[in-house]
Amino acid sequence: MAMPRILLLGAKGQVGHELQKTLPTIGELVAAGKETVNLAVPEQLHEVILSVQPDIIVNAAAYTAVDRAESDAELAYIVNQKAPTVLAEIAKTLGALLVHISTDYVFDGTHSHPYTESDVPTPQSVYGHSKWQGEEGIRQTWDQHIILRTAWVYGSQGKSNFVKTMLRLGAERPEVRVVDDQIGAPTWAKDIGDAIASLIQHWSISDPATQADVYGTYHFTNRGVASWYDFAVAIFAEAQALGFPLQIERVIPISTPEYPLPAPRPAYSVLSNRKITPILGQLAPHWRQSLRHMLQEYLQNTSI
Ligand SMILES: NC(=O)c1ccc[n+]([C@@H]2O[C@H](COP(=O)([O-])OP(=O)(O)OC[C@H]3O[C@@H](n4cnc5c(N)ncnc54)[C@H](OP(=O)(O)O)[C@@H]3O)[C@@H](O)[C@H]2O)c1
Repeated sequence: MAMPRILLLGAKGQVGHELQKTLPTIGELVAAGKETVNLAVPEQLHEVILSVQPDIIVNAAAYTAVDRAESDAELAYIVNQKAPTVLAEIAKTLGALLVHISTDYVFDGTHSHPYTESDVPTPQSVYGHSKWQGEEGIRQTWDQHIILRTAWVYGSQGKSNFVKTMLRLGAERPEVRVVDDQIGAPTWAKDIGDAIASLIQHWSISDPATQADVYGTYHFTNRGVASWYDFAVAIFAEAQALGFPLQIERVIPISTPEYPLPAPRPAYSVLSNRKITPILGQLAPHWRQSLRHMLQEYLQNTSI
């Protein structure tokens, strides 16, 4: 295909920012934030997207406020279930590839080995359930899709995240308490942007017969596992080494019940990268390495 036209939704989110950098290497990018394409109004999506005529739609937009979703379920389901299903209808009308992002929170966390794409989701929260229903809406509507599930996302741009919160708290106080009984894989938004670009590249250079093999669901996170406590300790160690101004002296491990939140979290939500690795042609970067790179980038772009 000559230079495909790519429509990116959610361009101002953590992953959206990174996709704004990687997708122009593949095609002509039209990047849209919420003010241009609002997933909360799915009935308006047809008109605005058909006017762009994309060959590829990449949806990085979502209702991501996990705790707020428990009391704001109606909007969470419109944005995370209804809108992706409508995007699949539009992609079908256009014959376009739909790339969508989902979450480890579709799983309940009772496993003790990494979740694969064939494990059956059993979400525990409104957010997790709404995201799973969005996946299902896409699967039932249009087979030419790629759904990438990822986890524990942080980036230097976009909204606040665990890394930025720890840096702020660590600059203000000597002690933080962090849960140590939830295990996952911290994942840098830049690595997700690179993985999505690789998947689309792989699809675009495949001939029509093998293109069908690329469609489906993939797991992608940074390599290795950590608890939120491990992650916090690593953030402070790496940030200190880079010269971030920190007051922090102690990180205290606590249990999930000691830090109650509205939405339940999976205790173990490690995703297996086994399926995506041959397409990427290399192992995903280890989470600690990506954390260091993110902090270096953040330091360069932020006045602290
Ligand atoms: N963050 C994580 O830890 C995590 C973990 C696993 C999977 N994921 C998935 O990864 C994807 C990207 O997440 P992220 O971390 O980049 O999230 P993010 O930073 O919260 O970005 C989501 C973007 O979607 C936009 N958005 C929200 N409601 C919208 C609407 N009604 N219409 C259009 N845009 C809307 C947001 O805009 P506003 O900020 O203006 O509302 C924001 O720019 C999502 O599918 C998410 O479910 C995230």
